[in-house]
Amino acid sequence: MRRLAVLGSTGSIGTSTLDVVQAHPERLSVVALAAGRNRDLLRAQCEIFRPRCVSVASKEDADWLRTNLSYTLDLHWGEEGLLACALHPGADTVVAAIVGSVGLASTEAALRAGRRVCVANKESLVVGGALMHEAARAGGGELLPVDSEHAALHQLLENRDPASIREVRITASGGPFRDWPLARIQAATIQEALNHPTWKMGPKITIDSATLMNKGLEVIEASVLFGLSADQVAVTVHPQSQVHAMVGFHDGSYQLQVCANDMKLPIQYCLLYPDKQPGPVAAYPWAEARTWTFEAPDLHRFPCLGLAFEALRAGGTAPALLNAANEVAVAAFLEGRLSFWDIQACNRDTLSAISATPLTSLPQVLDADRAARRHAEVWVQARP
Ligand SMILES: NC(=O)c1ccc[n+]([C@@H]2O[C@H](COP(=O)([O-])OP(=O)(O)OC[C@H]3O[C@@H](n4cnc5c(N)ncnc54)[C@H](OP(=O)(O)O)[C@@H]3O)[C@@H](O)[C@H]2O)c1
Repeated sequence: MRRLAVLGSTGSIGTSTLDVVQAHPERLSVVALAAGRNRDLLRAQCEIFRPRCVSVASKEDADWLRTNLSYTLDLHWGEEGLLACALHPGADTVVAAIVGSVGLASTEAALRAGRRVCVANKESLVVGGALMHEAARAGGGELLPVDSEHAALHQLLENRDPASIREVRITASGGPFRDWPLARIQAATIQEALNHPTWKMGPKITIDSATLMNKGLEVIEASVLFGLSADQVAVTVHPQSQVHAMVGFHDGSYQLQVCANDMKLPIQYCLLYPDKQPGPVAAYPWAEARTWTFEAPDLHRFPCLGLAFEALRAGGTAPALLNAANEVAVAAFLEGRLSFWDIQACNRDTLSAISATPLTSLPQVLDADRAARRHAEVWVQARP
């Protein structure tokens, strides 16, 4: 039986994780849940899964839960609450499904404490880089990627001689603006950017999918997870989102991973690894006729992808700087304070204004994150 702490239980990945738990009552149980502000959904989840430890963003919501739950449990709030859930002694597996670099400390702490950490929170890998592997090595933790492309690569690369691999390719749906001309993309509205064609996800990653920043973060994530250089990670646009990743070998051949575009599959892969069991997602429907297409990404219309490659090549704290700027810019866009096209401009400006330094420690990378946030916020405020 795996005993889970689910961080971000009220989000898109968090709720899918709990669906997977319900499909495997004999293999999976819930010990801790952490969320932000959605206390009504969290209360409903508590009544179903009966976790022993729960955390929310504010003390006020923790007090509200205390008086509105039908049983008593350990209640926490804020960053300490996240850590209390991630490090709960009754949990052996942590699902890191918070959005943004706020998830970094809990991911790192869980790896250092020897947990299996199923990481959906790609920002923590982008920001923490090699420090995440160091934490896992120091504490005996196990890092498994929930992102569908990286779960696919994990399966494709397992037991492969690294010397036989020329490159890996992750696929991108291309987002809602894949075939839009530049002028139309530049003036895209919030509603248009939130209208993702193939995946239903939280708002931040949906905007990142529209700018292709999400794919850029995933390129960095693949490099961090599998120890690959920027030249060994490539992106192919595949609007149907059925092929998730490919591995290219030196002999010129490729292997592809195919499954439905349902996050419950990679979540279950990580939770039950190395076992493969029937679960909530049906087998791939090969009897249905379908057409798959593949194309190269256009860095002119989607410059955020190019910025991610630049940050990966620069190394050190550069990915953290880019990620922090992007979190500020996306939040400002969603609040109506920035245009869609300004997101890439804010990211570019922050990346060039602050010098990256070699990655040495968590406090150092958190300092870089804060510096980039300050710079990006000033940039946003200076916008007409
Ligand atoms: N959605 C996908 O299909 C998908 C696929 C691959 C990777 N990912 C990655 O998975 C992560 C989560 O994405 P998502 O789409 O599930 O996002 P989401 O739907 O926006 O959910 C985010 C979760 O994080 C919680 N949260 C936010 N700030 C918090 C804080 N300060 N303290 C505690 N909890 C906090 C939210 O709580 P409240 O809602 O209660 O405020 C919610 O439970 C992201 O890093 C994303 O890139 C997502």
